[in-house]
This record gives sequence, C-alpha cells and structure tokens, in this order.
Amino acid sequence: MTELRSASVFPRSNDIPERFRFTTPREQRAWLCNGELRDWHGALQDVLSPVCIATDAGPVQQRIGAHPLLGAAEAEETLDAATRAWANGRGEWPTMTVEGRIRCVERFTAKMQERRDEIVKLLMWEIGKSLADAEKEFDRTVVYIRDTIDALKELDRISSRLVIEEGVIGQIRRAPLGVALCMGPFNYPLNETFTTLIPALIMGNTIIFKPPKLGVLLHEPLLEAFRDSFPKGVVNTVYGDGPTVITPIMKSGRVDVLAFIGSSRVGDILKSQHPKPHRLRCVLGLEAKNAAIVLPDADLDLAVRECTSGALSYNGQRCTAIKMILVHESIAPTFLSKFCESVDALRDGMPWEPGVQITPLPEENKTSWMRGLIDDAIAKGAKVVNARGNETEATWMHPAVVYPVGADARLGHEEQFGPVVPVASFGDVDEALRFVADSSYGQQVAIFGSDPDAIAALVDPLVNQVCRVNVNSQCQRGPDTFPFTGRKDSAEGTLSVTDALRVFTIRSLVAAKATDANKAIIRSILNERSSKFLSTDFIL
Ligand code: G3H
Repeated sequence: MTELRSASVFPRSNDIPERFRFTTPREQRAWLCNGELRDWHGALQDVLSPVCIATDAGPVQQRIGAHPLLGAAEAEETLDAATRAWANGRGEWPTMTVEGRIRCVERFTAKMQERRDEIVKLLMWEIGKSLADAEKEFDRTVVYIRDTIDALKELDRISSRLVIEEGVIGQIRRAPLGVALCMGPFNYPLNETFTTLIPALIMGNTIIFKPPKLGVLLHEPLLEAFRDSFPKGVVNTVYGDGPTVITPIMKSGRVDVLAFIGSSRVGDILKSQHPKPHRLRCVLGLEAKNAAIVLPDADLDLAVRECTSGALSYNGQRCTAIKMILVHESIAPTFLSKFCESVDALRDGMPWEPGVQITPLPEENKTSWMRGLIDDAIAKGAKVVNARGNETEATWMHPAVVYPVGADARLGHEEQFGPVVPVASFGDVDEALRFVADSSYGQQVAIFGSDPDAIAALVDPLVNQVCRVNVNSQCQRGPDTFPFTGRKDSAEGTLSVTDALRVFTIRSLVAAKATDANKAIIRSILNERSSKFLSTDFIL
C-alpha cells in the first residue's frame, strides 16, 4: 500500500492528553444472564483499538482490553432466561403496567447517564469515533429513550378507551411479541442497538442482546444498570462468535423478533436459521448505496458541503452515507475540483483532537480492503483525483475521491462503508435514475438543484425507488421521529420513535357483545382495576 506521509498521523503515548489516555485495559469477564452478572472463565477476545501508538518500529494498535467469547451452552442459558422471563406472556415484565415499565426504563436511563464519560471514552477508543461524535451518539440515545417514553405514554393514552362498534365492545392495545434478539452495528454500537433494544424492551418483550463485534466493551458499564433496573431474565447479553452463540439461539425457534442492523448477507443467514419463519418478526437495517444527484443548476458550494459531510462523516462509516455521487457532465469539472479541495481540507487525527473529522478505521484490514476497491476502479478506467487520496498509514487513510466510476467497477455498485467517494458523470438525468433503479439497495438519495420543476420530476420516480429523497441536503437518519427504512436489500420494517413501538408489538384486543351481563363484567373489571390490559387508566 502507498504510504506517502513523512510524519506519522498517530501519537506517541506521551502525546495523548492525560484525560484521554487508555492506561488500564478493560478485561471484561462479566455477562448478564437471568438477572446475574456471571463471571466467564473461558476464552476471551482481545480488543485492539483502531488508534495506533507511534513507536520506533512503526504504528502499533493499542490493546484496550478483552471480552468473553461465550460458548453455545451460555447462549442457551441466556435464551432459557429470556424465555422464562417471558413465560408465555405471563412473566412479570410482559404483564407489568405500562407505567411500571416506564419507571424501570427511567431508572435505567438515570444510571446510564452516570456512566456517560466512560462510555464516550470507550466509543473513541473502541471504534475510533471523534469525541464530538461520541458525545452526540450518547446524548442522542438518551433523547431517543426519553422520546420513546413520551411516545409510549401517548400510545397508551389513545388505547385507554373502549370502542363500541356494531354492538361489540372492544379495547385494542399493542401487546409484546415475546423474546427479542437485538444485534446492533459497530458504527453506532450504542445508538442503533438501543433504537431497537429500548422499544422492544419497554413494550414488554424480553431481550437477548448481542453487541456488535467491534464496540463490545462500551456496553460493559451498563450491565449493572440493566441488572438493577429490570426483573431477572428480562435483559440478557451474549458475546462471541455469531455461528457459535447466535446460530443455536435462532435454530431453537424460540426467538419471536429479530432486530438486526448489519449486512444483508448475515441478516439472510439469521432469518433462514429459524425453523418457523412465519413466526419470526424481523426488523432489519442493512446496506445502502445512497446516491447524490447533482443537477446542472445546483448551488455547487452547498452541494460540495453537503456531499463532503454526507459522504465522509465518521469516515463514511454510516449506512446513510452518500456512497456514489452522480454529477451532470456540464458541471463535473468544477464540482470535482471544489469537492476535492473540500475533501482534502478535512482534518485527520485522533478521536480526541479538537475539530478532527477523519479518524482511524476499526475494521480489521479495512484500509487494504478500501485500497482493493480503488485499484479495481483504476483497472476499469478511473483515477484517484484528489491530491491527498493516496495518503494512508496502518488503520488510517485520508479519503480518496475516485472518478469516473462506472457500474462495472465494484465501487459503482458495492457499499464501501469507508472513506472512498466514487463519482460518475451523466448527460441525461435518466442515467442517474437508472443507477438508482439498478442498485440492489433502496434507502435514500440526495438531489442537488435549484429548478423546482427539475426537482419535482426526480422526486416522483425516486420516492418509488428509495424511502427518503433529500433535497439540497445530505442523506441521514434523523430526526429520529421520521421513518427510517429502505427498499430492496436495504431494510425490512420501519424504525422511528413511534414506528419502533409498533414493530415490536402486535395489536391485541378484548371484545365482548354489548349485552347487559357483559357490560356489568367489564364495568367491574374497570372499577376494580383487576386487569392491566382491560383498563381505562390514563397516564398523566
Ligand atoms: O449507519 C446508519 C445510521 O442509521 C445513520 O444514522 O444518518 O444519523 O448518521 P445518521
């Protein structure tokens, strides 16, 4: 690989500000099962930070700890614990009042906030997220939990009434589904995991939670909070190799909901392992190849700004990142020159450095893999067009802009999930529409232009190809109250604060013919508050 920098981007240990040093590796042995923090005495997985320490022998990834590699027997125990806590819907948690479950989640959130600094530091060291982005991820997650609580209160208020239709009295509510297996991605290990775990939990499901392969240790500070905030067996954790710990759980047929954010390849394997597929509800967030379409009359400074941050925030490691830029041929040279200048001005460095934008990559051999994508595009006629596009060292690389990238190149259709931005030009806007239609993915697009008619002509076909069309704005998930989903191989199910409450539940109702005898029974149940479901109590 080309290594063009003369000085290392990585610090010597003494150069790291004291507050951010990782002096004591975190040796995690605990796993949470059936309300106990159990001690693991078996194999451990070493955790290497993407952050390297510069030494005389070159950069060395810092070891920051280790976590358990559980076996199939422990996976089985977590499944048993979650199944027992569900107890065919008769467990303490699924039958608890909504107010009771909200109180538990509030208790958990308060304990979680006490661990903010520790978790933020682990986000920086474990996945190389900048301090600002790590803080944002933590705070956004807390806001998401609060918004979820508010949305549930509202949902419960709406459901706290009886309806009478065609002589039938009914009360309709959303009821939990059972055991939920929640698996989040490494790029938002806290936030995206919690955007499924929290709604699944608060709606009364019991949880088996497997952190992503990268981003495990940052969850350890929360294990006690989980243990102390919820009845035993309601939240359980598994760690280790997917085929060892997840395959037996899926093959058992006892998982009712799979919430997985990761690759469609793994998502398909997990789904296919369940012996009763129609009983399994899936909520999947998968890959994307979001395109930016830059029209001839676009405000180029704005388009460059949005494309730079849209393609390269957190080094391009976002499912919503712009992963292909399609620019009209009449403005391609100007756009490219401004875009390259903007990309080359991005600040590289370590996660704690003020204003840093490009940081080391956590996935093993990621820089070589990215180089492979670039080399493939070069072999098919493209070039790295930004001056700093070949700068790389160990786990770090400055972003490369590659042009012109055709559909035959891997960069033209594969999700790169890293700091390489492919660009292609088009003469007729139909070519841009064809790119989106031919893609295996269908999450979002971003259109840049100023003519309302031209934008409208693109909006209408594109909303039927993707699930969010951004106008003069980068692609993104937020605000978290907006629906987040995708077509084709990009997603299954919709997440948002309110949608998530729906996907982890099913509508269930109590109905009775409106006879005098039935009315008397219902009145008595309501007056005596003898049912938690059949109830008109209103959360204030
Ligand atoms: O990795 C995918 C995330 O859902 C993206 O979220 O657009 O807020 O960065 P974001």
